[in-house]
Amino acid sequence: MLQRVVRSTIIDAPIERVWAVIRDFNSHDQWHAVVDQSRIERSEKSDQVGCVRNFTLKDGHHIREQLLTLDDRQHKSTYCIVEATVPLQRYVATVTLKPVTDGNRTFWHWESTFATPPGMERELTDMVAQGVYEAGFENLRRHLREGGDLRAPSAARESTLAAMPRALPVASRRIVVPRYGGPEQMVLQDADCPAPGPGEVRIRQHAIGVNYLDIYLRRGWIPPMMAEGGTPGMEAAGSVLDWGEGVHGFLPGDRVAYLWHAPGSYAHMRNVPADTVVRLPPTVEDETAAALLLKGLTADYLVHDLGHLDRRGPGTRVLVHAAAGGVGLLVCAWARKLGATVIGTVSSEAKARLAREYGCQNVIVLGEGSYRFADAVQQLGGADVLIDGLGEAARDENLAALARRGHWISLGNATGALAQVDTHALLAKSITFSRPVVFDYVATRAELERRAARLWAAVGDGTLRVPPVERHSLAGAAEAHARLERRATSGALVLLA
Ligand SMILES: NC(=O)c1ccc[n+]([C@@H]2O[C@H](COP(=O)([O-])OP(=O)(O)OC[C@H]3O[C@@H](n4cnc5c(N)ncnc54)[C@H](OP(=O)(O)O)[C@@H]3O)[C@@H](O)[C@H]2O)c1
Repeated sequence: MLQRVVRSTIIDAPIERVWAVIRDFNSHDQWHAVVDQSRIERSEKSDQVGCVRNFTLKDGHHIREQLLTLDDRQHKSTYCIVEATVPLQRYVATVTLKPVTDGNRTFWHWESTFATPPGMERELTDMVAQGVYEAGFENLRRHLREGGDLRAPSAARESTLAAMPRALPVASRRIVVPRYGGPEQMVLQDADCPAPGPGEVRIRQHAIGVNYLDIYLRRGWIPPMMAEGGTPGMEAAGSVLDWGEGVHGFLPGDRVAYLWHAPGSYAHMRNVPADTVVRLPPTVEDETAAALLLKGLTADYLVHDLGHLDRRGPGTRVLVHAAAGGVGLLVCAWARKLGATVIGTVSSEAKARLAREYGCQNVIVLGEGSYRFADAVQQLGGADVLIDGLGEAARDENLAALARRGHWISLGNATGALAQVDTHALLAKSITFSRPVVFDYVATRAELERRAARLWAAVGDGTLRVPPVERHSLAGAAEAHARLERRATSGALVLLA
């Protein structure tokens, strides 16, 4: 008769983090205390279905097991014993992970069937249930608590790691801007991604956020930030490949996103400082993360830190330019949820409809080439908070649209760089003025994590609706820029690498 052993537990870590360990069929000598040394036969990869792991237990037993199935979508693998000095016969086991609904914990189900010699049923089922499965749960917890630190590996693991490409450059492609200018200046080139340096994480990028700032860089408006020959892009989402000295807390395959003040994200692979990287909850897809991270954290500091919309009374009038754009829609939605009266400018009726869907109650459609909105805003009482990504062409209208003691947040320069602001013009209505940049609001890892958690929570509880996402390939970056510049887009743009 076949014996059946079933055990399950909850692991206090997101599913991708647990799966990154489990799916590696040769990882068990890293985390399971009963396993001494393990190797994959015939130099096959340790996630190759059909591969055989050949290992010894600390008590001297010897086992060969074969990987039968591996399903990254279901987080499920099946394996069987092909040969063992332990008298477990016809042993087939399945490991299944499921995300717990809070998103940060994992349900782990481990079950097997096997036959035993007569009289040994009890002894062997106890050994599998307690010595392998229950002890395994505890051992993996400890392994994850220690940050998945793979720097003190067993001899077998060490040789596997040495053979991994972690210390080597990896082939990659990236967009380069050899000469400042129009979108056509962006060319895709082969370029190795070097081994990560101390403090760096190497990321295989899947989705890259496109931001208006990338256009300023490509045009050569901010040479200290990006010289000719540079690669634009401030953010991306993907999975961890490996990391340099001094980095803890990541595992290969961890799903992550980052934003960093140094451009260079228009690429397949990239090394970035570990402090700029956040782990993604299972509910947030790579594309969504790339569409949201920089723009969403911008919306976060605008409505909370500078607009104080969480503290000001309901009805605070917020004027948002480019209300149907990437940042614009997020600000409209968040400001509305916080009780503000949202006024927006857009360039078409289609964009007006979209802005309204995202919470903008008063939409002003600008005429062709015109930036006239002040009268309409004053009819509504004037702007207490002005979120201005337009810049120079709208400066006088902005001053006229602001209410007494209004706050002008000069966010960007889609129409051209804002020339110096005349303090006398501010004095006329006691206007205050800010010129912020998102990177100063995520300057420490703690702040980045706190704000990112607030952003994912706002998406999770419906406060923030994700803007429409327009997708382009990495090779199609020029087309993405051209559309953004000619005001043809609404919502966010991402490049898929
Ligand atoms: N300082 C920061 O921390 C920070 C962070 C993120 C973004 N930003 C700034 O926020 C603004 C929005 O960024 P985004 O990435 O979300 O872009 P976006 O709003 O999706 O795109 C820019 C929009 O600006 C409007 N626009 C008006 N006049 C324009 C012109 N002459 N040329 C091009 N566009 C014009 C267009 O909307 P309409 O067609 O509806 O007018 C266009 O869709 C940008 O100024 C950006 O630099 C600043």
